Amino acid sequence: PFDWYAEMRENAPIRYDPTRQTWDVFRYEDVKTILANDDEQFSTSPRNIAGFQEPPEDEGFLLETMLLQDPPRHGELRSVVEGAFEPRSIRELEPRIRTLTAELIDEALVDANGELDVVDALAYPLPVIVIAELLGIPHDDRDQFKRWSDTIVRGADEDVDPEAFVQEQQQAGQEMAAYFLDQIERRRQQPQDDLLTTIATEEGESGQLSHREALGMCMLLLIAGNITTTHLITNAIRCFDEHDDDLFATLSDEDGSLSAAIEEVLRYRGSVQAMTRVPREDVELGGKQLEAGDGIVVWLGAANRDERQFPDADTFVPDRSPNQHLGFGHGIHYCLGAPLARLETRVVLDELLTRLSDITIAPDADLTPVRSSFIYGVESLPLRFERDE
Ligand code: HEM
Repeated sequence: PFDWYAEMRENAPIRYDPTRQTWDVFRYEDVKTILANDDEQFSTSPRNIAGFQEPPEDEGFLLETMLLQDPPRHGELRSVVEGAFEPRSIRELEPRIRTLTAELIDEALVDANGELDVVDALAYPLPVIVIAELLGIPHDDRDQFKRWSDTIVRGADEDVDPEAFVQEQQQAGQEMAAYFLDQIERRRQQPQDDLLTTIATEEGESGQLSHREALGMCMLLLIAGNITTTHLITNAIRCFDEHDDDLFATLSDEDGSLSAAIEEVLRYRGSVQAMTRVPREDVELGGKQLEAGDGIVVWLGAANRDERQFPDADTFVPDRSPNQHLGFGHGIHYCLGAPLARLETRVVLDELLTRLSDITIAPDADLTPVRSSFIYGVESLPLRFERDE
């Protein structure tokens, strides 16, 4: 998409697309202005889109999540789980995440034969396991939980009938919703030391979360944090592999060079390329008149390659500084899971870099991006390597 972004940034930085009936915004400054005004002029709630139809009562609970709510409810919902996701709490998870990563690598190496698919082996399963543990999904239910999330979060395989797959997805969604509601009820009866208990019992400013809100929160944490982290890991490996110097050999967790390079991946090949907004009132932006109720797509991926903000924007600079990228968004909806996503990505890459050497992407790997304009990544990433042990 990057050539298209460049063209649009120059020739139509804010444009109305009549076929999709939405605005597209491409430049860094404009994107940031919109995100910085989410508390007043702009909204993330589809309910503000002209002609929006309310879904049936038992669907659409994602509308009740912080992601799709405006202030003041946004802040109240976010504050319920904020403590669990702040950098200090997340740092404590590092040893556990290292153990899990090491286990997954060991498992994959058993029959790897010098090649393994990072997506299947690590980048996909790790975030699911970590969020399941944080929520407090009982050990015996983990496999079932993972099967539901596989169906909900992952796309259909090419050989699957699309209609059947949508049905399967809906069913998995319903089963998982019923499961979460049951778990929430159990935590209300018998609190434990886990995130499900926080979600079920925390008294915010207006009392406990409703069932719909609590369920939406669980689903959001599962959906928002999985594929996004999977793709950040694979996008990072692709950036490192393409770079002239042997980045795999030089990046290190100790001197912060790995962390800096991960920030650059978020800028250069972020897993979330775009998000949607709605103006709550008529507003002027860059000389264009946007009307209340219009749909807007803000292109983070285009903003992150804007030369006006980043010198040599189309070059991957592993130690770029400053690097005020928008890969995790900006403003009140800034990614709640950013510290966790950074930690998981850093640990996975560090474990790969320390345990394997001569890492390269298999020459026959299919690097076609996934079919989505909002998410950027590849379905699978087979690596070749030598073992260090
Ligand atoms: C919000 C990106 C991982 C939970 C966002 C937003 C972006 C983003 C761009 C802003 C959405 C908007 O403004 O409309 C990413 C990327 C990730 C990642 C690139 C991985 C590389 C995670 C993880 C979690 C998470 C691991 C949690 C387990 C959330 C939540 C929100 C959010 C709850 C909504 C925050 C709010 O509305 O206040 N994320 N995310 N994300 N993310 Fe992430």
